Amino acid sequence: METIEVINKRRSVRHFKDEPIPEDILRQILKAGCYAPSAHNSQPWEFIVLKGDKKDELGDVFLNISKEERYKEYTGFYVNRLLKYSSKMVKESPITIVVFNDGSFCKTASKYFRQSKKEILHMMEVQSIAAAIENMLLVCHDQGLGAVWLGVPLLMPQELIEDFFETKNDLMAVIPMGYPSKKRAIEKKVDVDKHVTYFG
Ligand SMILES: Cc1cc2nc3c(=O)[nH]c(=O)nc-3n(C[C@H](O)[C@H](O)[C@H](O)COP(=O)(O)O)c2cc1C
Repeated sequence: METIEVINKRRSVRHFKDEPIPEDILRQILKAGCYAPSAHNSQPWEFIVLKGDKKDELGDVFLNISKEERYKEYTGFYVNRLLKYSSKMVKESPITIVVFNDGSFCKTASKYFRQSKKEILHMMEVQSIAAAIENMLLVCHDQGLGAVWLGVPLLMPQELIEDFFETKNDLMAVIPMGYPSKKRAIEKKVDVDKHVTYFG
């Protein structure tokens, strides 16, 4: 597919067929993530690929958070609905890629910047990771797969994240992916001119 067509036609996909993703396509997706631009070429991303039981367990974790009294401070009616829906997407997908920020840009760059600018470094790290995520979503679409960028799992209690993924890195996104099982209404985009100001 032409790049421009991939960009224009990609949309979030939330329902998947029970069909595996070939290994070479998975590699292409991960490689696209790793080839994204990043602040000072720091490549601050870590990807965890979940399949099979471990993936389904993550779906169960989302359900438990939405149900259990002790996690009440993280949830609420609307978040619970989103977590339940996320659980279904993760379980239905053959593969879910979980994205973390390894903090490497902040670690190396912070010695060169004043304290007051440190949050800017963090922002650049997050922007770099967002670029990696978008690259992966685009390759999914190009390869006939669908995927969705889930942010609601970031509400997971930190100790659960560390236990489940065995990492202290910051959770950035959860991306269930697979062959789409439904044709869905295309999410409309607003007029380009509403977002752009030209000078000169
Ligand atoms: C940072 C971020 C967080 C998101 N979190 C969720 C989420 O938790 N659940 C969900 O279903 N979709 C989530 N989405 C997908 C958006 O809802 C979707 O991109 C938006 O509605 C536009 O639709 P499109 O992707 O089809 O163009 C998220 C997207 C981004 C960029």
